[in-house]
Amino acid sequence: MEKSDPSNSRLVIVSNRLPVIISKKHDKEWQIESGSGGLVTALAPVLKDRGGLWIGWPGNLVEDEVDSAALLESQSKEIGYDLKSVELNRSEVENYYKGFANEIIWPLFHDFIAYCNFNPDYWAAYLSVNRKFAKVIVENLQPSDFIWIHDYHLIGVGEELRKMGVKNRIGFFLHIPFPPTDIFVRLPWRFQILNSLLEYDLIGLQSFRERRNFLQAIRTFVQDTRGIGKGPVIKMKVREKEIRIGVFPISIDFEEFAQMAASQEVSDRAWYIHEDYREQKIIFGVDRLDYTKGIPERLKAYQNALRRYPELCKNTTLIQVVVPSRRDIPQYASLLEEIERLVGEINGEFTQPGWVPIHYIYRSLDRTDLVAYYRMAELAFITPLKDGMNLVAKEYCACNLELSGVLVMSEFAGSVAQFQKAALLVNPHDIEGMADAIHRAIHLPLNERNWRMKRLRASVRKQNIFWWVDSFLEAAISKSLNNFPRLEDYIPQR
Ligand code: ADP
Ligand code: G6P
Repeated sequence: MEKSDPSNSRLVIVSNRLPVIISKKHDKEWQIESGSGGLVTALAPVLKDRGGLWIGWPGNLVEDEVDSAALLESQSKEIGYDLKSVELNRSEVENYYKGFANEIIWPLFHDFIAYCNFNPDYWAAYLSVNRKFAKVIVENLQPSDFIWIHDYHLIGVGEELRKMGVKNRIGFFLHIPFPPTDIFVRLPWRFQILNSLLEYDLIGLQSFRERRNFLQAIRTFVQDTRGIGKGPVIKMKVREKEIRIGVFPISIDFEEFAQMAASQEVSDRAWYIHEDYREQKIIFGVDRLDYTKGIPERLKAYQNALRRYPELCKNTTLIQVVVPSRRDIPQYASLLEEIERLVGEINGEFTQPGWVPIHYIYRSLDRTDLVAYYRMAELAFITPLKDGMNLVAKEYCACNLELSGVLVMSEFAGSVAQFQKAALLVNPHDIEGMADAIHRAIHLPLNERNWRMKRLRASVRKQNIFWWVDSFLEAAISKSLNNFPRLEDYIPQR
């Protein structure tokens, strides 16, 4: 199989999740629904635009005996690109997905070492499932395909493909943070994981923070390496092989969100929702259920703000949406309990006739509802303890057509590098600091809100998901790195 030019070859995207999930609700028929999470939101418009093949797990079990191929085939026709499933059995889901991916890599890479369960069985399952993904890729591969592997579940797939003799170009993008070396060093399989990453032709990371950590790990654990260049994409010689390592902040389909926000359907929905909150300033938070998102800290910050700034009582409402996620993993189950306890406690402390401070929604919203909330919220309160990028923040900006919203944002989200000082930055561990930021945001003069939001929107509009995919593919083919986007293209000038 020949090396190919990815700009005009078929794109084969491989991720643990497909953009759709096959599930059975209330013992009814098997059905297909949209997947959730930033990876799916970001990549779906890319394949819709370019066509290609997406390989991944549709969320059901081999034991379910559902004809997933048939369901995916009919879905493929509807969405305009091909879907191919990797079928996983119960034990693989337990040990590879819940185990290695979500009880080891996810917490470790987000600096939650105490949440890691370094069970050796998980590693064996991770290797064998990565091999399984590689086999499905080989079965569906064409000689000129560009293979693009995504995220922490599939780090070993590139190495498996090379062992199977695949010569196509292979890129990898890590959607989550890469940890500092003193944290990465705790991973019992640190050499294997690092060496697997170095099998790719191009490795993409979300921000300069992640790349600094990654390069530091390479320098610490791998002998005989040499870096060349210092822009967003650099070359690295690792044992005679040349690889590229780049920074590519992932984004959203800005126009799609903006157009949807402008639609009559969303305007009507937003108007009706706002009618329920007359005289209220809406503070909006929306996250997958995850301990990295800082939801309890955010609730405590609002509680602290209500205590210290009583004028916020009856004039503000916090709408917190939580999307169910990974509920079988113990830390997620206890996080859910903690959130629900805090919501009850805070509402118990402050509720008055005609006003409940926190409106808590625990379910997935359809796109129209989500965009309507984005459009009408005066303040987006997005405070992850650590996040690879955070697309919710970008979606909020895209939908803020009136330019009057304020983005209050954690210093530790990957997207902060692009937002710079146009967002109000907070330390998500600093409860009083976040409470002060709520107070400040609510009182920010309109002209200041306007220039901040204009700047945020300009940055998301320019560095949208199509810019992201073009930058990645360009970095995979370009002979020289001189004509590659400059640093200013990544971090807008003030
Ligand atoms: P993560 O990938 O860790 O979940 P991101 O902020 O990057 O975090 O992406 C979350 C994605 O999930 C966003 O694209 C957002 O639109 C979507 N999402 C968040 N909340 C909901 C919800 N309640 N219903 C449907 N989609 C949601
Ligand atoms: C994050 C990860 C994705 C993942 C998503 C949802 O965005 O980077 O790879 O798909 O969360 O999590 P789930 O475990 O449901 O796939």
